[in-house]
Amino acid sequence: MELKNKVVLVTGSSQGIGAETALLFAKEGANVVVTYNSNRKKAENIFKECKKCKDAFLVKLNVDDEKSIKECVEKVVDKFGTIDILVNNAGVLVWKNLMEHSNKDIDFQINTNLVGLIKMTKTVLPFMKGQNKAGIKNSTNIFEKSKTVGMIINIASAAGKRAANENYSTYCASKFGVRGFTQALALELPKGIKTFAVNPGMTATQMTDFEGTSPRKVAEIIVNTAREKYKIQNGGDIDIWKHVVESKPADVYYTAKKKIGEIFGGEK
Ligand SMILES: NC(=O)c1ccc[n+]([C@@H]2O[C@H](COP(=O)([O-])OP(=O)(O)OC[C@H]3O[C@@H](n4cnc5c(N)ncnc54)[C@H](OP(=O)(O)O)[C@@H]3O)[C@@H](O)[C@H]2O)c1
Repeated sequence: MELKNKVVLVTGSSQGIGAETALLFAKEGANVVVTYNSNRKKAENIFKECKKCKDAFLVKLNVDDEKSIKECVEKVVDKFGTIDILVNNAGVLVWKNLMEHSNKDIDFQINTNLVGLIKMTKTVLPFMKGQNKAGIKNSTNIFEKSKTVGMIINIASAAGKRAANENYSTYCASKFGVRGFTQALALELPKGIKTFAVNPGMTATQMTDFEGTSPRKVAEIIVNTAREKYKIQNGGDIDIWKHVVESKPADVYYTAKKKIGEIFGGEK
């Protein structure tokens, strides 16, 4: 998909993977919607950087609040008239054994990572090109040649492919859910709208005390997904660890890939 002049909404773009993704889309000439939940100051800085490249918009969004989702999407549509690419990135992790989880911890992760992502998708879809506000069954002839006119990129996780550690069962459940949702949604979408699950392994953000792959690298792969650089079937997975190690010489590549697969649950 050509990115220039497209409208891209990135949920949770105040920091981490979302912030880097917003910046890269702006550098590609897209109009970026930067959203924050609690971190307005950080988001303002990202917004200002995006604005240097192209038009940008800063909006408050709590994906765990239906009113906030509705207001955010309405504001974006008032400003830009459409949303071409939705990056469902907002996510949280509570790193504890299940028996130490409060019910609030469980709701927090499932509602943000899975339920919020589904509601966000449902609210945005009617405003993607070729969609009718009545619902997503309205496939029209503009899709005949299968040109991609809209995309939903869901940030799942290696933890949504295989559980490789203790202490994150609820988080894993939410991310397995995101991948299941993505696969099933692809079967419902009109031909011109695609959806993919992007699965990072451990990435150096606040979520991991800044250990792991650079969030910039993850963002590059998210942007390449939007460009349809990878020949992946609609609803399929883009596993970050495969791309992170691909540029290394063959022997290093195989060792690194095996190791990363073992640690993060990727294919070996
Ligand atoms: N880091 C990793 O190792 C890793 C690995 C695999 C997958 N992932 C996934 O990648 C995504 C980004 O994670 P990250 O590592 O960049 O985390 P991060 O640095 O902690 O950033 C999380 C972002 O999500 C936003 N957010 C949290 N709750 C929200 C809510 N209720 N509504 C809207 N936005 C909300 C935050 O906004 P505010 O700061 O404004 O509150 C922040 O912008 C998540 O889905 C995560 O599960 C991360």
